[in-house]
Amino acid sequence: MSNHHTTPGDHRAKTTELQREIDDIYAVQLDHVTKDFGGGVLGLDDVNLGFRTGRVTVLLGLSGSGKSTLLRHINGLHAPTSGTVRVLGQDVNSVGKRGLRELRRNIGVIFQSFNLVGPMSVLENVCAGQLGSLKGPRISLMMYPKSVRREAIEKLDRVGLADRAYQRADTLSGGQQQRVAIARALMQRPTVLLADEPVASLDPVSALDVINLLRQIAEEDNLTVIASLHQVQLAIEFADRIIGLRGGQAVLDRSTAGLSAEEASTIYSSVSGMDLAEAGPSPAAKDQPAAGSVRTPLSSGLTR
Ligand SMILES: Nc1ncnc2c1ncn2[C@@H]1O[C@H](COP(=O)(O)OP(=O)(O)OP(=O)(O)O)[C@@H](O)[C@H]1O
Ligand SMILES: [Mg+2]
Repeated sequence: MSNHHTTPGDHRAKTTELQREIDDIYAVQLDHVTKDFGGGVLGLDDVNLGFRTGRVTVLLGLSGSGKSTLLRHINGLHAPTSGTVRVLGQDVNSVGKRGLRELRRNIGVIFQSFNLVGPMSVLENVCAGQLGSLKGPRISLMMYPKSVRREAIEKLDRVGLADRAYQRADTLSGGQQQRVAIARALMQRPTVLLADEPVASLDPVSALDVINLLRQIAEEDNLTVIASLHQVQLAIEFADRIIGLRGGQAVLDRSTAGLSAEEASTIYSSVSGMDLAEAGPSPAAKDQPAAGSVRTPLSSGLTR
C-alpha cells in the first residue's frame, strides 16, 4: 500500500481530505479574517465563522458594524488583510481572476437598491442574470437564446411575476422589483446567495413578502443564504441562525430554533450595544438583563 500512514506525503493528504469534508459541511468559511481599512478602522476583526451548506444566516448589527464588509469578502470584492475565506471549497483569494469569475457564478447577490436596468423590460433584466455565462453583450431580448428566455420566464413564475415579463422594470413596485432581482439572481443557478439588506427599501408588508419568498426559495434550492438585516423580528422569522456584529467582531452567534422573546430582546440589546455600552468592551451579551431595552415588537412568531 503506497498510501500508508508513514509515507511523507500522508499528513498533507489527510489534511486535504479533512478540508474536503469541512468544505462539504460549510459552504462558506472565514478563518481569522481581519480587514484593516487603514486609519485605525477594522472592517472585520479576527472573524471566525463557518456557514453551513443549505442554511440561512442573518447578520445583524448597527450601521458600520461590518455586515457589508463581511459579505464583500465572500464574493471576493474585498481581500482580507489577514486570514482566509473559503467558498465552495476554494480559497477566494488564491483562485486567480478566472477562478474568481467562475466562483462568482455560483454566488447570487441581491442588493438593497435592486440594481435593475429601469428602462429595460422585466424579462430582459432577468435574462441578464445569465450574462456571466454567455459571450458578449446582448442588445435586445431577441439576442438571448430561446432557452434562456424560457428559463427567465420560469424564474419569473417562481417569484410570481410571469405576467409582468414585458413591463418596464421601473414601473414595478419596490417589492416587485426585488422579486425580479431575485429571479435574475436565480438565472445563475447559484448555490450561495448573498443579500445585503434586501428589504431595507421596502415597506413592512412587502419586506415580509420578500423575506418569505427568499426563505421558500432557499429551502427549495438548498441555498446557503447569508443576508444582512436591521430588523431582529424579521431575522428570527427568516434565519436558521443569527450572527451579531459589532465593530467588525462577531459578538453573538446563535440558532433561531426555539428562541424566546426574552432571548430575542437580548439579541437586540447586544447588537445595538445599548446594554453593552455600559458594560464595557466585553461582549457578555448573555449576562445582560433585557428588561427595559426592547424596542422591537417581539410578541409573536418567534419560533418556526
Ligand atoms: N472601502 C472602505 N474603505 C474604508 N473604510 C471602509 C470601507 N468599507 C467599509 N469601511 C468601514 O468599515 C466599517 C464597516 O462598514 P460596513 O459597510 O461593512 O458596515 P455595515 O454593517 O454594512 O453598515 P450599514 O448597516 O450602514 O450598511 C465602517 O467603519 C466603514 O466605514
Ligand atoms: Mg452595509
